Amino acid sequence: MPHFSKPAAGSWTEHYPELGTRPVDYTDSIDPACYAAEQTAIFKKTWLNVGRVEQLPKTGSYFTKELAVADTSLVLVRGKDKRIRAFHNLCRHRGNKLVWNDYPGEEVKGTCRQFTCKYHAWRYDLEGNLTFVQQEKEFFDLDKADFGLKSVRCEVWEGFIFVNLDPDAAPLSQYLGELGKGLEGYPFHEMTEVFTYKAEVGSNWKLFIDAFAEFYHAPVLHQKQATKEEAEKLLGYGFEALHYDIRSPHSMISSWGGMSPPKDPSMVKPIERVLRSGLFGPWDRPDIEGLDPLPPGVNPAGHRAWGVDSFHFFPNFMLLIWAPGWYLTYHYWPTAVDRHIFEANLYFVPAKTARERLAHELAAVTFKEYALQDANTLEATQTMLKSRAVTEFPLNDQEILLRHLHKVAGDYVKEHADAAG
Ligand code: FES
Ligand SMILES: [Fe+2]
Repeated sequence: MPHFSKPAAGSWTEHYPELGTRPVDYTDSIDPACYAAEQTAIFKKTWLNVGRVEQLPKTGSYFTKELAVADTSLVLVRGKDKRIRAFHNLCRHRGNKLVWNDYPGEEVKGTCRQFTCKYHAWRYDLEGNLTFVQQEKEFFDLDKADFGLKSVRCEVWEGFIFVNLDPDAAPLSQYLGELGKGLEGYPFHEMTEVFTYKAEVGSNWKLFIDAFAEFYHAPVLHQKQATKEEAEKLLGYGFEALHYDIRSPHSMISSWGGMSPPKDPSMVKPIERVLRSGLFGPWDRPDIEGLDPLPPGVNPAGHRAWGVDSFHFFPNFMLLIWAPGWYLTYHYWPTAVDRHIFEANLYFVPAKTARERLAHELAAVTFKEYALQDANTLEATQTMLKSRAVTEFPLNDQEILLRHLHKVAGDYVKEHADAAG
């Protein structure tokens, strides 16, 4: 692996003086009061990505999104006017959850003409208007126009659907800022073959973001993924990023990716050679518009050895764009201070041949193996952080994005507390 140059200041971290270089306090990952503050100050205030437009292909398509962290469940639906709207998943009669199947806590999806409450059959149209009240005459001065579903801010960026529970939040494009702008035009809409993983992980949500915001651990924790000789070489080199960029509250890391295809085929396992694929994705780029040239925000260092950019849109959405022409998303949905639901989606241009399909499958299962190695480690970390035997931890220059994440989360909480007086 080649060596990559750091910025003029000498280190990435010192390039952002507000981050400091001191050890970082991880009490924010074990303290229930801190978690409660994050729920209010972060998850009820920022734009959250809840899915893609392809999940709502036609009028009446809907899905629900459980947002335990924000104490609600939402329903996302495409209306007759083709617009996508978000509502609290709550019936205006007596507060029953409106859309669910056998288990009230499980997310559901489908297509419908209207929503009917299971309790007393009040009905709502796709735009959220209350259209039918059972035994309406029994009510007192009830004007149906006043009892539509409670709506939530909803905006779409490059096909990604975002919601915001704060009615006063700045528009989505402003929130995503320069890092978002730099990705506009990437052919996300062409990559509609999706592989999905979901797991409940026994760690604070920020710890999993930490694990994906640095690759310092990769040659160590994931060494079994490469052949023995290659793993030893990678361990000897260590990891250096091509580039980091911080546009608070968001950030990105740009990384080397010499494995797709590998310089020397003996670096990789036989199945990868046969299927021309591996962790870094299929070796052959799909033949679509929009990958050459890439949008300006991708591979910002313009490096020949570039392999993947990982963008972290605060608080809990990661978007990874891979050199061979596919992308990956991560979401971390907190359910408690020491638990969260992790979701990963891999997106490819639909396979045209059986070999292409197997190349995608191999990338997807290889990815799952990696993610398990990470998740397992996090649960071990969480249990020991809880001991409070040590509360501050030294972070190196390749862990700059972690330092930034914990600072940003802390700043949101602090600003919110200050504003509340
Ligand atoms: S709670 Fe929905 S109709 Fe009564
Ligand atoms: Fe990892």
